[in-house]
Amino acid sequence: MAESEAGASGWRSDVNRDVPLAGKAEFAPLRIGPLAVWPPVVLAPMAGVTNYPFRALCREFGAGLYVSEMITARGYLNGNRRTVLLASSREDETPRSVQVYSSDPKDAGEMVARLVDDGVHHVDINLGCPVRKVTAHGGGSAIPVKPRLVAALAHAMVSNARGVPVTMKMRKGIDEELLTYREAGRVAQEEGISAVGLHARTAAQLYSGEADWSAIADLKSRLSIPVLGNGDIWESFDALRMMRETRCDGVIVGRGCLGRPWLFRELAQAFDGVEPERPPNLGEVREILLDHARRLIEFFGPVTALQQMRKWCAWYTKGFRNSSALRERLQRVETYEQLLAGLVDLDPTEPFPTAALRAHRGKSGRTQTVSLPLGYLDDLEDATPPCEVFDAAEAEKYDGG
Ligand SMILES: Cc1cc2nc3c(=O)[nH]c(=O)nc-3n(C[C@H](O)[C@H](O)[C@H](O)COP(=O)(O)O)c2cc1C
Repeated sequence: MAESEAGASGWRSDVNRDVPLAGKAEFAPLRIGPLAVWPPVVLAPMAGVTNYPFRALCREFGAGLYVSEMITARGYLNGNRRTVLLASSREDETPRSVQVYSSDPKDAGEMVARLVDDGVHHVDINLGCPVRKVTAHGGGSAIPVKPRLVAALAHAMVSNARGVPVTMKMRKGIDEELLTYREAGRVAQEEGISAVGLHARTAAQLYSGEADWSAIADLKSRLSIPVLGNGDIWESFDALRMMRETRCDGVIVGRGCLGRPWLFRELAQAFDGVEPERPPNLGEVREILLDHARRLIEFFGPVTALQQMRKWCAWYTKGFRNSSALRERLQRVETYEQLLAGLVDLDPTEPFPTAALRAHRGKSGRTQTVSLPLGYLDDLEDATPPCEVFDAAEAEKYDGG
């Protein structure tokens, strides 16, 4: 679609054609403990994605809260070099937000205390990881099956946080027969958790199908602490729709911003009642991609950075003409110079492909039967922490929620 075809309603896909922009004072800043977040938008924790370089890039486009990828408590407490790097930030990042992965209240509490010493302003805990190896040991999205374990984790974290807000991110449940979000949300609130985020899918669904926003509305109606809705925000107008439909207090944006950090500019504009700017054309996307690469190189060094850029190149170029040949070429780059060379003969005027607005990035597709430990459902009152199965290097390979 040429720019002129975008029409008076701007760059919107059909589902959002008639969604009104935010009215004056229609939405309030998201309150997470002492933090007031405007617009009420949170960058989802994403393993291998939301490291400091990407958070900083997103922040330059917009505003909101930008959460780190999940950081394993065990790796962090053991001083694993890579885990500590992934948890790190730079002075310009305020507020600074870290997601903890742990199923052991003692480790989680200790990690929170250390993070607070290190100046972190917000801590989240991941109770949504659907990875088989994790749930099979009772971790991740299996934890909310045991409300007393949720309570123990929340209590340990909140009591070590010295006023820094702690939030919880979870899924609807294991599957449609074993929904856990209502009870986990109630327990979280009771234990002083400042807000809960709900990825409105079950662990069985992984990333398939559409997120069930009605579960977000249901949770919101039951809790007095803020509820963050998560699942399928591909365009800024989806965020407005989600907040209107569910009355949730803020949105968490995951896959929609993969290769599209300017989505945060669009979100800021839509929440301010302004029609979002058109997305960048291919020439502008190339500059953003190269900026991202330079940031990764500065943070991780060239070898790791260029390896990571392979997936980013695929996401940034998704939907553009000849993008599969381009992606193929970019998969082999090993240096910044090769990356530059691989991008020279693009048509910089090619407009952003509207079809790519809702094209799934990252994960989608398959479902699973969730593995739980043998006899796991026999005693739901049990609060024994499961044994940890992640090591730090492994955690980054997984999708965590
Ligand atoms: C590549 C990838 C990595 C993820 N890693 C994490 C993680 O570390 N912690 C977490 O809570 N959720 C993680 N998630 C889940 C997202 O935070 C989010 O809940 C999910 O993608 C649904 O939101 P979306 O529909 O906007 O993508 C990950 C998702 C993806 C695609």
